Amino acid sequence: MSESSDLDAPPRARGASPFQSSPPGTKEASAFQGTPSGAGDASRPQGTTTGGLLASATQAVRDADLARRHGNVCNLIGLIIEVTGLRAEIGEVCLVDNRIPAEVVGFRDGRTLLMPLGELHGIGPGTRVLATGAPFRVAVGSGLLGRVVDGLGIPLDELPAPEGVERSTIAPPPSALSRPRITERVGLGVRALDTLVPCGRGQRLGIFAGSGVGKSSLMGMIARSTSAQVNVIALVGERGREVREFIERDLGDALERSVVVVATSDQPALVRIKAAFTATTIAEHFRDQGHDVLLMMDSVTRFAMAQREVGLAIGEPPATRGYTPSVFALLPRLLERAGTSTSGSITGLYTVLVDGDDMNEPIADATRAILDGHVVLTRSLAHAGHYPAIDVLQSVSRLVGEIVPPEIAAAGQRLRSALAVLHEKEDLVAIGAYQPGSDSALDTALAHRTQIEGFLRQSVNERSTPEQADTQLLELAASLTGEDASGPVDIADGEEITAEHIDPGATQAGNVAAEVPAIPALGLSI
Ligand SMILES: Nc1ncnc2c1ncn2[C@@H]1O[C@H](COP(=O)(O)OP(=O)(O)OP(=O)(O)O)[C@@H](O)[C@H]1O
Ligand SMILES: [Mg+2]
Repeated sequence: MSESSDLDAPPRARGASPFQSSPPGTKEASAFQGTPSGAGDASRPQGTTTGGLLASATQAVRDADLARRHGNVCNLIGLIIEVTGLRAEIGEVCLVDNRIPAEVVGFRDGRTLLMPLGELHGIGPGTRVLATGAPFRVAVGSGLLGRVVDGLGIPLDELPAPEGVERSTIAPPPSALSRPRITERVGLGVRALDTLVPCGRGQRLGIFAGSGVGKSSLMGMIARSTSAQVNVIALVGERGREVREFIERDLGDALERSVVVVATSDQPALVRIKAAFTATTIAEHFRDQGHDVLLMMDSVTRFAMAQREVGLAIGEPPATRGYTPSVFALLPRLLERAGTSTSGSITGLYTVLVDGDDMNEPIADATRAILDGHVVLTRSLAHAGHYPAIDVLQSVSRLVGEIVPPEIAAAGQRLRSALAVLHEKEDLVAIGAYQPGSDSALDTALAHRTQIEGFLRQSVNERSTPEQADTQLLELAASLTGEDASGPVDIADGEEITAEHIDPGATQAGNVAAEVPAIPALGLSI
């Protein structure tokens, strides 16, 4: 599809007569079939007689590009507009009734299937449809910073549209070999992430959680505190109520260096899909300008659900949980566009709503396979008031070895080991069956429970830099290995562990487990 095409300038030369293959009965076809100088005139000498002039004029009109690019609505079923007589390409934007944009999503029985990018009021049989010859485009430019736009890139804040260059929302990702390797950590402002699940500049992380576990709040925290130069935030298919809340409460001053793209759940499916691509296209513009961009999308699942709606409407077969094959084809085409390029980087954070807290549901599975790491939030932590509810043991950053210094990676590993041992023995401890002294690793972990929890918990307004987080992690790891003499526990080799070691304030020796509250608050799902 030509990039330079628009309504006034048809995108390409079209040689063949548009009506030769027009279905009979369309407005244009019947109009020209009934012309007095029809096919029979071709046998007459042309150019000299009136008939010849008429014949060449008719031919010229037949060859006119405009005529071929019109059609008429013949059917409207659910979300799909069926149009006859329209020659348009997949992905091309058309105008229904000269005012409602719609995109070509498929073809069936010689008809073109369109999906609207707006409300379909006032459409009826025979309504005229005009192909514009161009794919969907958004205007992008630095004037977008601080602005809130809809899924089609139109400002929602009643201020004039910023100036910018038009850019197609369909674009290839940077070529695999031209992508610089990721070597630098981007500060997200969340201690647990910056140290234990660090994110590299240009890396793509998924935030996986069930509903109401704190995905959006975590994203807000990150948007406010990140060290990235530009934030592009896509709110796809979320509740309308949450939008202002997110912009005013969560984003706050960070709006100045952010662009927010919003398509709430009431928007047409195609607009929700476009919102994800629009945000990615805006992020690409800033990356091309040499910036380090943080692209956040809440949520990829709602994007997948919108594509499922489109797929089912055009007759695709439903596969796992009703998701159609096109959903799984579209996900990498969206997610692969983030990453490093020769000019800048897009670090991608994508929230994934996991249905019924099932981390293996199809969209979670597919996104986990595409992304370079995942952060898992668990309901048991949220229930215990442990926010952000990051389950460190289930969360992985695939680039940790490349982006944090070795001592931080080692300290992180030490903390993970302590969490793992707590997780493994939590049932035993919870029922009071654990005898202190029988497992020194567990005793040490239990003794540092409060410190570990203090490190992992962070209120939404608490700011943290990666350097501060590193220092705190190193201190914690040192006390876990017993290097810190002033720490709450100092256990010599072979020394018998007592309740005093585990909780210096405990008065009831003997039943240490009973003194250790809420293991779920450490996380570890029961
Ligand atoms: N860091 C936090 N501190 C305190 N409370 C929090 C925190 N994060 C989340 N919550 C609580 O959890 C609730 C749900 O959080 P949030 O809206 O971020 O979840 P979500 O996963 O985005 O939900 P949904 O799937 O419905 O979009 C919030 O209203 C808030 O009460
Ligand atoms: Mg949310």
